[in-house]
Formats: sequence, C-alpha cells, structure tokens
Amino acid sequence: MIKPRVVETAEGIQGDFDVRMYDRMMRRMRDKGWLETREILKAGIDQGLALEVGPGPGYLGLEWLKKSTGTSLKAVEISPAMIGIARRNAAEYGLADRAEYVKGDARGIPFDDNLFDGAFTNGSLHEWADPKNVFKEIYRVLKPSGKYLVSDLRRDMHPLVKWFMQAVTKPKEIRPGLRSSIKAAYLVEEIEALLRQCIPGGYRVEKKAMGLVITGTKAG
Ligand SMILES: C[S@@+](CC[C@H](N)C(=O)[O-])C[C@H]1O[C@@H](n2cnc3c(N)ncnc32)[C@H](O)[C@@H]1O
Repeated sequence: MIKPRVVETAEGIQGDFDVRMYDRMMRRMRDKGWLETREILKAGIDQGLALEVGPGPGYLGLEWLKKSTGTSLKAVEISPAMIGIARRNAAEYGLADRAEYVKGDARGIPFDDNLFDGAFTNGSLHEWADPKNVFKEIYRVLKPSGKYLVSDLRRDMHPLVKWFMQAVTKPKEIRPGLRSSIKAAYLVEEIEALLRQCIPGGYRVEKKAMGLVITGTKAG
C-alpha cells in the first residue's frame, strides 16, 4: 500500500544553504552526464524558444541550450536565491544572452499566450501547490503544435531504487530533501487523473525506474 502524498513545500527551494547544496548536487549530476537533456531533444523540443519551469540552478536548460542550435530559453522560478545561481551559471556557460530567468509562480506564468516552441521542467512538479493550473499555464503559453516534457520522481519507486538514489546523491546534506521529495511525488495514476481534468489529450505518461515522464503536444 503506497502512502498518501506528503506536501513538501509550496514556495519552492528557498534559503541560501539549501540552494547552495542543491546547486552542488546538480553540478555533480551535470558533470556525470545524468541530466535529461537527451530526452528533451528526443521529445522534439529542439529548436526556437523554450520555457523552463522551476529551473533551480539552471543546468538542465543550459545543457539544452548548449546541445541545440539557434535556441533560447525563458524560465520562471519562484525562488530568488535559485534565480541568482541560475544567472551566475548561465554567465559561466557563456549563455547569458540566450537564457532569461524571471521570478514568478508557474500558477501564473508571466508570458504571453502561444509564445513558446517547447516547454520542459524536471523535478518541480511535486512542489507545485496547484499542478492543474501549472499544466493549464504551460499549455496556454505553448504555440499550437508546441511540445512539452515534464519529468519528476514518483512516490512508488522500488525500495532498492530509492536506496540506490540515496546512496549516489551527494552532498549528503541533500539526502533528507530527496526523501521528502519522494514522499511528495505523484503516482502515474494520480497524474493521469489530474491531466484529464486540466488539459486536452495528446499526452503520454511513462513510468520510469526513478520517476515519471509526461510528454505531449499542444493541439495544432
Ligand atoms: C527540485 S528543484 C528542480 C530544479 C531543476 N529543474 C533541476 O532539475 O535540478 C524544483 C525547482 O522548482 C522551483 N519551483 C517550485 N514550485 C514552483 C512554482 N510554483 N513556480 C516556479 N518555480 C517553482 C523550486 O524553487 C526549485 O528551484
């Protein structure tokens, strides 16, 4: 029997210590080639202007910019401390002119309708206070035929996978946050029920060993 979700936060990752530890973890994952950049490109999000929701320190979007041509990125992030780090990282990549980080809550994405060619977000879904509205907002700002990819943990991952993730997650200060994120994460069935209530079809929800991935296309 899988336990019910335990809400982790409604304000994203705030606080200098947590943000610094998170940056160190993601930088290490980037260095090990563990980010999901390839999945985003494979989902057809490979050109034009992309939206990233909850970029945190920004590595995923920055790697996407690095591996695609003529692209640019706008990101909405609720945590000012994360925005500071993402801007610093964009400068370090030499990509500050292609990446814009805006403070905001994805329940009301501060961009126009039909603006983006693609949208992606990783590890943020379980933190959204109102995921239905965020999905509606992602849909609203995508151009017709625009593609989206939303990936996150899932609460019912196998105990051995959970154990493995804990073991490889560094710095160790971040491990309690990983445990609370897993407790806050959704099941595939919960996400399917939620999506049915907020966006038209044209999406697919896949169960992965460590999480779930939603991919879809806005009706053309
Ligand atoms: C676990 S981190 C994931 C960061 C990054 N996407 C990654 O893969 O490393 C989740 C991020 O989403 C942000 N976030 C959470 N809720 C949000 C919301 N409603 N609107 C915008 N950003 C949000 C958090 O502040 C945090 O930076």
